[in-house]
Amino acid sequence: MYPLIVALDFPTAKAAMALAERLDPQQVRVKVGKELFTSAGPALVESLQARGFSVFLDLKFHDIPATVAGACRAAAELGVWMLNVHASGGRTMLEAARNAVETSGGKRPLLIAVTVLTSLDAAALQEIGCTAAPQAQVERLAALAAASGFDGVVCSAQEAALLRERQPSLLRVTPGIRPTGTAHDDQRRVLTPAEALAAGADYLVVGRPISAAADPAAACAAVLAEIAAVPSTSASRSLSS
Ligand code: C5P
Repeated sequence: MYPLIVALDFPTAKAAMALAERLDPQQVRVKVGKELFTSAGPALVESLQARGFSVFLDLKFHDIPATVAGACRAAAELGVWMLNVHASGGRTMLEAARNAVETSGGKRPLLIAVTVLTSLDAAALQEIGCTAAPQAQVERLAALAAASGFDGVVCSAQEAALLRERQPSLLRVTPGIRPTGTAHDDQRRVLTPAEALAAGADYLVVGRPISAAADPAAACAAVLAEIAAVPSTSASRSLSS
């Protein structure tokens, strides 16, 4: 059981490594997003990997197929464990991304699709010309990701149960997790780690409850204990890749 991904949402490599040094790569994976990657670059990813961490490169690529393919190939060659692109880039872009990671030479990273950003509600979708309800659009894009050979989707814990039923082949990577008794920050709808796993999440992305804690190692241990207490089912599924 190895479902916890700690988001290293920091502006500098120094701050990110200070947290990473307090985490155990045998127990958690780490996520590098746009801010940290833009400031610290591939060298930071290599440093994390040298310490034994599996890295989820959360850059949400979205561009013409050739450009996304090139970015995915570069990420695969960097050796990341997981990377993501926007499913709304369309089938040709998704297939180009999949072909790129499959032919990159190194160990194939897990390829994850972002469906509808949780920051977009029905009105915001309407404004950009998407008349579908958010949930219907999530389902549509998850189906496209599955048909394009993707390994999983980023989804809210609320969507995880539905996607487990509709697209069982896809892994569900779920942010918006708050351990019992911690602050919600700017996340509006949150589930505890146990609730999210029960709802069908395969991987839990946790940021501030660990990164902003007075004692990050203790906060991480508390999340791991909460995960370990979940009986069998989704949490005990083999997640070795
Ligand atoms: O600090 P917190 O646990 O809220 O961090 C969650 C992480 O997951 C952040 O890196 C955030 O960008 C990311 N994320 C999210 N909601 C999404 C997609 C990604 O919170 N829908």
